[in-house]
Amino acid sequence: MERRFPVIETARLIGRAPGAQDFGSIRLLHADPRVMRTLSPTAKPMPETWSRQALMAIVEHFRRHGFGAWLFRERWSGDFVGYCGLKHSLVEGAPMVELLYSIRSAQWFKGYGAEAAAACVAYGFETLGLEQIVAFTLPHNRGSRAVMEGRGFVYERDITHAALPHVFYRLRRPLSPPKRRKRGTGARS
Ligand SMILES: CC(C)(COP(=O)(O)OP(=O)(O)OC[C@H]1O[C@@H](n2cnc3c(N)ncnc32)[C@H](O)[C@@H]1OP(=O)(O)O)[C@@H](O)C(=O)NCCC(=O)NCCS
Repeated sequence: MERRFPVIETARLIGRAPGAQDFGSIRLLHADPRVMRTLSPTAKPMPETWSRQALMAIVEHFRRHGFGAWLFRERWSGDFVGYCGLKHSLVEGAPMVELLYSIRSAQWFKGYGAEAAAACVAYGFETLGLEQIVAFTLPHNRGSRAVMEGRGFVYERDITHAALPHVFYRLRRPLSPPKRRKRGTGARS
């Protein structure tokens, strides 16, 4: 039987785990020069083989871990917006869970990146019980840094990732609010 993966819903977006049928959506990102300027290892659009491998890697991540990069669509139109999610990564040799996102350039500056990122971060802490989530990007990727900083990620250091200089950010799980004591119970000072 086909396995069902969690769906992420926000006020304006709905995110689903991808399958082979989503190749066309992934291509919309990987053929978009504005997106690939900060996403591609060459800073240029990537060929179909690259998209196929990337999609297979996302599908496999969901199969192994039950979460990954969800493909987000606008609720009202069904239009593809981009992907956002969480992924196991090695950062300078250390295992971490990374927040990742890419939004089609036609959909930039509508708050979708921030909205999807907030929902995925909440899923990571509240459902997966992660203690921390990291994120990293090219130093000049102001949009990506703004999305991270807006979600409370804190810059830690410069790193080298995929043989390129990156800025590394981390967000720790927020402390749970103290449980309210019922009147007349518990310790008193
Ligand atoms: C980075 C990216 C995901 C932002 O997506 P988006 O949906 O346009 O972002 P939002 O509209 O949610 O904006 C969130 C904040 O980032 C700011 N921002 C977005 N793009 C920006 C840019 N290019 N330069 C400066 N600030 C930017 C917004 O003004 C907003 O700021 P605010 O919180 O103060 O209002 C998108 O530009 C993208 O996919 N880029 C190409 C792929 C990529 O680089 N992915 C990340 C790889 S690490």
